[in-house]
Formats: sequence, C-alpha cells, structure tokens
Amino acid sequence: MTITARYALVTGGSRGIGRGIALKLAEQGVHVAINYLKDEASAKSTLEQVRAAGADGFVVQADVAQPAQVERLFRRVRDEFGSLDVFVANARTDIGTFYEPAMAISLDKWDTAMDSQAKAFLVGVREASAIMPDGGRIIAITYAPGGRYGGWQSRVGMGAAKSALEVLARYFAVALAPRGITVNSVSPGWVEDSVMNALPAPVVQMIRDHHKNGWTPMRRLGTPADIGNAVALLCSKEAGFITGQLIAVDGGAGLMDPAVPLPIQQPELQPA
Ligand SMILES: NC(=O)c1ccc[n+]([C@@H]2O[C@H](COP(=O)([O-])OP(=O)(O)OC[C@H]3O[C@@H](n4cnc5c(N)ncnc54)[C@H](OP(=O)(O)O)[C@@H]3O)[C@@H](O)[C@H]2O)c1
Repeated sequence: MTITARYALVTGGSRGIGRGIALKLAEQGVHVAINYLKDEASAKSTLEQVRAAGADGFVVQADVAQPAQVERLFRRVRDEFGSLDVFVANARTDIGTFYEPAMAISLDKWDTAMDSQAKAFLVGVREASAIMPDGGRIIAITYAPGGRYGGWQSRVGMGAAKSALEVLARYFAVALAPRGITVNSVSPGWVEDSVMNALPAPVVQMIRDHHKNGWTPMRRLGTPADIGNAVALLCSKEAGFITGQLIAVDGGAGLMDPAVPLPIQQPELQPA
C-alpha cells in the first residue's frame, strides 16, 4: 500500500472513530488537522498521539453544522498546510442534539442532523476541492443501516441525514472524477471506544452480546483502528480507481438478514 498524501483533515478527529482515522493516517506519515467542537483536551491528546506516530498537525475548533465555521476551518487548513490531500467528514453531533422519534422530532433537531451531515459535506467538499491537488481523497463516514431501515425510531433525523450524505458522495464522485479525486463513503458497524461509551452500561453489554452471539459474523465489535485502516486503504495510490462507493466495515454484520431468526443464520447450526 502506497500513501503519498501529506495533509489530511479529519472532522471530529479528537476522539472515537475520528481519532482512529487520524492515528492510522499519521502512521503513514500524513499530517493531520484535528477538528473538534467542545473538548479541546481530547483534541490535544490526539495530536500528541499523532506526533508520537511520527507525523504532525494541529487542532482546530469549529462547528461543522455552521457553514461559516466550515469555511473558517478550511481557511485555517490552507494557512497551516497550504493544501489538503485527504478530507474525512467524520463528525457527528452528540446524541441529545438529534435523537427524537419520527412523530415528535423538533425541527431544530432535524436541522442539526441535516446541517451537521449533508450541509456540512456540501460546503466541506467544495472548500476541500479548492485546495486539493488532483488525485486527492474525500471520505464520508456514515451509518448506512440508519438510512435503510425504520425500526430505530429516534434515529430518524440522523438516518435521513446520513442517507443524504451518501447520496452527495456519489454526486461529488462524478463531479470530481475528471481530477482523479475519489469520493467514497465508509459505513462502520458498531464500534468500541466511540459514542457507544456514552450509552448506559447495560445497553452497551446488550449490543456487545448481540454481535458476539452472531449478528456480526466475525463475533466482535469494530474498533476505531479498523475504520482507520479502511480509510487509509482508500487513501492509498492503489485505491485510485475506487470512487462513489459505499464500503461497509462491519465484520460482515450487514450481510445478516433481519427477517430471519439469528440461529438459522449461524454457520455452525446448519444441517450437515
Ligand atoms: N460509534 C459507532 O459505533 C458508529 C457506527 C457507525 C458510524 N459511526 C459514525 O462515525 C462517526 C464518528 O462516530 P463516533 O461514535 O466515533 O463519535 P464520538 O465518539 O461521539 O465523537 C464525535 C466527534 O465529533 C466531534 N463533534 C461533535 N459535534 C461536532 C460538531 N458540530 N462540529 C465538529 N465536530 C463535532 C466531537 O468533538 P467534541 O468531543 O469536541 O465534542 C468528537 O470529536 C460519526 O459520523 C458516526 O455517525 C459511528
């Protein structure tokens, strides 16, 4: 795998999956701009880890749901790096800002979901492409099942927003293909050391058990490093002809059929 990229921006790169992505890029010698919203200490700690991995970078506060702040974020990137090879749109606002069921969600929460995902990506990609040389990489971090199903009622806002993000990624892939810039979406399954840590302990255990018991064929949850590896692969020279794709990084969880009871889908329970 050959990565020639020198400069990356990871929104929400200060903790969780974003930190996993920042560190994997840093291991490849890529300098990283680490965006955060409120928790400067985590952002600085991630920057220290980026430096320990042999790269450099800086931390930058900005709310991606505010277009003017996204523009300011990219001005800072241009001032610090001069150009940008990799843009990873990873930030997702905290659960309380969007989590409400379909019949009750306030327009404020709906707007926060859409603005932090679709609108942030619309503005972000235009800004990124202005300072990105040909051959750059743009990656949207999504959660594709949320846009495909309707069961998880309180995720309606973020589900719709992630779907819009995925659609935008395909349109931008075509728009930027003549410049050799690839635009893809990465869809993690459930990931340890992420927003999951904010859930009550019994809920976290229920989710872990569900996946270990077979919903994820690989029998474990993902890690931020798993997602970072996938992003690094997409940033490689060898991935230069992959664009407009939605890539699940979920240990096979997306292959399971929700309409079929889990025991019937387990390889070891199949008739001989
Ligand atoms: N966790 C999972 O299992 C999972 C599964 C599938 C997809 N994903 C996707 O992966 C991405 C990362 O998820 P995560 O669970 O790792 O997130 P997380 O641990 O909750 O971290 C969120 C990150 O985004 C930043 N952030 C929050 N609101 C922001 C805003 N308005 N503007 C800029 N930055 C903001 C946070 O900064 P502060 O700390 O400063 O607030 C933090 O760096 C999200 O797009 C999510 O939808 C996650």
